[in-house]
Amino acid sequence: MTVVATDTTADPTAGQFGEESIWFKLTPLLKDPANPMRVLMQMAERYGAVIPVTLGKQRVVLISEPEFFKHVLVKNSDNYIKYFDGLKPIFGKSMITNDGALWQKIRMPQQPAFHPDVFADYIPYFNQAIQTKMETWADLAKSGETTEMVEQTWTLAADMICKALFDRDMPFNPHVVFKYVKTYTDVMNHKSMRDKKLAGDGTEFGQGETAKAVEAWWSVPPAVFAADPREEREKTLLKMIEAAVNDPAVPEFDRQQAIDEIKQYLWAGTETTALTLAWALYLVSKHPEAAERIRKEGEEVCGGREPNAADYSALIYTRSVIQETMRLYPPVWSLIRTAAGPDEIDGKEIKAGDRIVLFGYGAHHNARFWDEPEAFKPERWMGESAKKRVKYSYIPFGAGKRSCIGGAMSQVENTLALSQLLRRFQPEYVGPEPAPIHATVTLTPKGGLHFRIRER
Ligand code: HEM
Repeated sequence: MTVVATDTTADPTAGQFGEESIWFKLTPLLKDPANPMRVLMQMAERYGAVIPVTLGKQRVVLISEPEFFKHVLVKNSDNYIKYFDGLKPIFGKSMITNDGALWQKIRMPQQPAFHPDVFADYIPYFNQAIQTKMETWADLAKSGETTEMVEQTWTLAADMICKALFDRDMPFNPHVVFKYVKTYTDVMNHKSMRDKKLAGDGTEFGQGETAKAVEAWWSVPPAVFAADPREEREKTLLKMIEAAVNDPAVPEFDRQQAIDEIKQYLWAGTETTALTLAWALYLVSKHPEAAERIRKEGEEVCGGREPNAADYSALIYTRSVIQETMRLYPPVWSLIRTAAGPDEIDGKEIKAGDRIVLFGYGAHHNARFWDEPEAFKPERWMGESAKKRVKYSYIPFGAGKRSCIGGAMSQVENTLALSQLLRRFQPEYVGPEPAPIHATVTLTPKGGLHFRIRER
């Protein structure tokens, strides 16, 4: 059976503006214009690794110590369930939002598409998407106009997923989808939209930009299913999803599930990957010696041909730049869970219903775990230095059974993209220094990262 796409999720904006939303509650703590992470960093330093606070009527527990990340994500993970208020329109009921046996049933049929053995098959498609991006950049270099890098890298990441995992050319305008969905995922907008409503300015749920964003987003999965395959490949993620819908042994994996899985991949798998590559380009623009080393490594490893799987393994420095970027700018700066039942962490009581904020950014920037934590040092990921890491002090992909399904694949995508783009181009960051950050569900550059592209 072919999956015909319709979307039946009841209320597109349910929970989005709710006062109970953790994003709404954290907003006042994320307002420092110089660095929205600063208040949480100072709290962790002053009050310790586990800080219960009551925000409104909600108990929130801020955790910033690796051993307690392990407790929540690995040792006692069944007590800590996923939290997705306000993001349902983005993810629907996709596996990222589920827990327990249902989550396992949904994940299992898709897992083979992310086994490292299949990455070699994906690399030619990643390379094709990179080539297309290079054509865009050649035009930008000719015109001399500046460009916003997260949008550039988002369209690249979306193209890579469509080509490699779905056997499709992008059957939607990525710039339109990017613009609308960014409006929606910016939780700061949720608060201001809600404030407007409370002030009686007539903003209604489901109207205006939010409704347009939801509509634009919901049109994407039907377009993916309906698009012509590029090569009729048999072993794609899309084929695995279609097979799961047709498998009577997994009745939970219905048509709506298939639609929602596509949404999940085209957001969870693109925004994070895109932010990493954009921040990496920002960092190497500030560190020209790193850009030169990446170019040299690319020349030595690949010469004049496109990279393959063996080359990816050999691009050690380039991959370390990507890892270091995710330490300094973890796209998912905190992981949120809800406590299902009582527990105790570091002598502090955890009550059922508490919202748990695992502050990964805090651990990534803590001098107890990293020498010169604010410095950009890709070498710390190479050779002996890499072995000294404190376990769970680096969690860009989460940890335990709910860790990112596509994390290893994203490193292949970004390492190959960084290597090839820098060999041909010199992207020059032209925005404010340091680039201001903005904490929404992800860690984004405030106002974007603006670059001028030059051909070398
Ligand atoms: C730099 C790139 C990426 C980062 C930083 C990242 C980060 C994360 C994190 C932190 C989680 C766990 C969330 C939690 O525990 O609450 C996660 C889960 C997930 N990610 Fe990624 N991700 C990246 C790339 C990708 C890619 C390329 C894909 C797929 C194409 C993907 C698909 C998913 C899915 C489906 C889940 C849910 C897994 C589950 O619940 O079983 N991600 N990601």
